[in-house]
Amino acid sequence: MDRKRELFGGRGAAILAMAGSAIGLGNIWRFPYMVGQTGGAAFIILYLVCCLLLSLPIFLAEAVIGHRTHAGTFGALEQLAPGTKWKWLGLLTVLSPLVILSYYSVVGGWSMDYLWRSLTAGFHADAIGTVSSEFGGFIASPWAPLLCHTLFLGGCAWIVSAGVKSGIEKFNKVTMPLLFVLIVVIMGYSLTLPGSSAGVSYMLKPDFSKITPSAVAAAMGQSFFSLSLGVGTILTYASYVHEKENILVTGLGTVGFDLLFALIAGFAIMPAVFAAGIEPGAGPGLIFETLPYIFAKMGASAPWLSSLVAVLFFVTIVFAAFTSAISMFEVGVAYLVEQKGLSRRRATLLIFACTWALGALCSLSFGPLSGVKLFGLSIFSFCDMLTSNFLMTFGGLLFVLFVGWKMDRKAVRDEFTCGGTARFNCAVFDAFWLLLRYIAPPAIVIIFITNFLA
Ligand code: PFF
Repeated sequence: MDRKRELFGGRGAAILAMAGSAIGLGNIWRFPYMVGQTGGAAFIILYLVCCLLLSLPIFLAEAVIGHRTHAGTFGALEQLAPGTKWKWLGLLTVLSPLVILSYYSVVGGWSMDYLWRSLTAGFHADAIGTVSSEFGGFIASPWAPLLCHTLFLGGCAWIVSAGVKSGIEKFNKVTMPLLFVLIVVIMGYSLTLPGSSAGVSYMLKPDFSKITPSAVAAAMGQSFFSLSLGVGTILTYASYVHEKENILVTGLGTVGFDLLFALIAGFAIMPAVFAAGIEPGAGPGLIFETLPYIFAKMGASAPWLSSLVAVLFFVTIVFAAFTSAISMFEVGVAYLVEQKGLSRRRATLLIFACTWALGALCSLSFGPLSGVKLFGLSIFSFCDMLTSNFLMTFGGLLFVLFVGWKMDRKAVRDEFTCGGTARFNCAVFDAFWLLLRYIAPPAIVIIFITNFLA
């Protein structure tokens, strides 16, 4: 182990950082719209089952590799399986978070613009179509979204270049508790709106006819995205956790916070959607079209309150996006520092330059580059589809196979049980081992095929 390697300050800091990676646009934007599109409470039940039975073991598998080796993705696999082809998994998981970061930063930039709008002019519209065409016009105009993408990515670079403790840890320690307070306040407000109870029942009453194979695949894909699985971010953050810390406790804490946040975000958004009399299945336009329309509608009767809620909402989104984006950024930086000997500053600049360029193409694919198609998709949608449907699932499968079938069982058990001393963890380990070896791999393959055929 490299003695000079920075570590997180303690268990709390590690959980906050990992939860920071997990909690992001996936919880506030993707989860509520998928709940809306895939049948409300039925989707939530599927999602909980997927998180506990599949995503948690995969999360722990990644964390075990990072914590055991105290190295980034490439170095960790080289250490555990020197001179084998597993190093390609290390390389793949350096590249895939950077592809995600490129388009994630574009959406992070849009959120910054919407935060600015809510602080200045606010939202005014008498029909949802007006808000949608305003949003469409904004993302197609080349310069403003590019500028926002640059500012968002620049912010990430600034935090990451400050280091693991003084940059990433410090930022997450301040931001994560704030995010929880904000989302609870927004939920409280949303639940008091007249007509919001229909949204609450939608979130609580399952319609089991909605449970189809594609809903299962969607729930699984969402839990992968939300827990940042299969792309090495959890592995890299776990490598900064002190060796005395127990990885099971850190993992359970992180997954628990991520689930809680997604549910609160659902209860913050769905009741407001129903209160405004809008269809819940609005899809990806939810936060940039449906919600601004709701803010505009509320603004007619209570302008002051509506502006305040809009500002709080977009602050939550922007900061949640930052805490996730810096985890993806860090994977590339850790690789360049540890494997290529670059200084953290240079590594940060290089990652900034590459992800900025790909992100710029993604951003322009809504405007001047809209005619460029890859497998029939725009550059943005291609990067999203490639990573969410394939690379994350593929990476997750390989991590699970590596820990379950290649790593020494005793080494994995020691990570869980503090060398066999924690009795409760020993029982949990047996269940984890079973899920990891026999349940997770075929389940991931089935989901992979379902996504492929979709
Ligand atoms: N988990 C993040 C979210 O829910 O927004 C997204 C994400 C972060 C995906 C980090 C992948 C990753 F490596």
